[in-house]
Amino acid sequence: MIVGVAKEISVGEKRVALVPELVPKLIQAGLSVAVQPGAGAAAGFNDTLYAEKGAQLADDAFTQAEILLTVQPPSVDQIGRLREGATLIGFLQPFANKAAIEALATRRATAFAMELMPRITRAQPMDALSAMSTVSGYKAVLLAAGHLPKFFPLLMTAAGTLTPARVFVIGAGVAGLQAIGTAKRLGAVVEAYDTRPAVKEQVESLGAKFADFGLATQDAEAKTGYAKAQSEEFYQKQQEAMARAVAASDVVITTALIPGQRAPVLISAQMVQGMRPGSVIVDLAAEQGGNCALTEPGQEVVRHGVVISGLTNLPSTVPYHASQMYARTVVSYLLHLCKDGRLQLDLNDELTRGPLVTHQGEIVHEAVKAALAAGGR
Ligand code: NAI
Repeated sequence: MIVGVAKEISVGEKRVALVPELVPKLIQAGLSVAVQPGAGAAAGFNDTLYAEKGAQLADDAFTQAEILLTVQPPSVDQIGRLREGATLIGFLQPFANKAAIEALATRRATAFAMELMPRITRAQPMDALSAMSTVSGYKAVLLAAGHLPKFFPLLMTAAGTLTPARVFVIGAGVAGLQAIGTAKRLGAVVEAYDTRPAVKEQVESLGAKFADFGLATQDAEAKTGYAKAQSEEFYQKQQEAMARAVAASDVVITTALIPGQRAPVLISAQMVQGMRPGSVIVDLAAEQGGNCALTEPGQEVVRHGVVISGLTNLPSTVPYHASQMYARTVVSYLLHLCKDGRLQLDLNDELTRGPLVTHQGEIVHEAVKAALAAGGR
């Protein structure tokens, strides 16, 4: 079967769904690889590198592929060019992307959304969201360091001693833990908070302080490992409890998400006003509405003297490693779906079934179907 690799067309997207080092793995599995010219160029992988590993070049991966690998959801126009019955693996934003999901069903595509990968041990090498969160957490700290009019580390110089920056990380999941580690390596004093009590130990093992605000969060974690939504009253209390920690910080990095919902607002406009001028907030939840009330998704703004970065798609700003990590998750998943050079789908396997959105002309993912019927989230 021909595995096609598309050149991404979304504005600002520099990642590619397959990197050259993984081409031989697919060939060994009995597949052939067709890469659209220039597909990896923005990530640092030129066509020759793919060809050297045994890939062919394909003018239009959409028309030629039997299995198409993508990063961003394809446009309805691109889906119209897919071979009927082709398989697609990529991020699909399935709950919000009604037109594309319906077009995939019409095209009789077998479409897998990488963001729907179940969080089970077997699926860890296929966990694209976690891989990309690692990149975002790292980059958030670099963005903050770039804006902050201060050093991160404590410096003892002939010109005197300079105190280290104070970084507060809200939400210590995959992105938050990576932000903590990166900020620590740069020498900052780091504090973190999460509603899931299990996180305390992980925060401390990275050398950061876990901020204990005395909020009742016994029921904060779902079976999936993700956070459960809390009441508006809880979020109000959380804001009040965190106000002092936010005001004392030079940098606040927010990563708090609730799957499938708008991100909780944890930093009010008043809390921003309470920060020192020159401080920085990097809001990694910007794409889901933002953890800060003043975040403008996709923008960097200055409010009350505080830089608030709501830039989205940070993984695309580290495209070489982000592509390498993403491609590894996609290839692991594809190899799970294939046997003897052919796709063999066991629809009773939760790993196959979990990310499956469309199949044989239908939207087969119940939660996606329900969300799209209600107009999409
Ligand atoms: P996420 O990106 O959905 O959320 C980020 C963080 O925000 C989470 O730690 C969450 O608890 C926190 N959060 C939500 N509301 C908050 C609030 N009001 N205040 C402060 N923090 C808040 O989650 P992510 O990072 O993708 O994963 C969360 C956890 O899932 C991981 O730490 C890990 O324990 C587990 N996990 C399990 C995997 C597996 O078993 N295969 C793979 C990856 C993660």
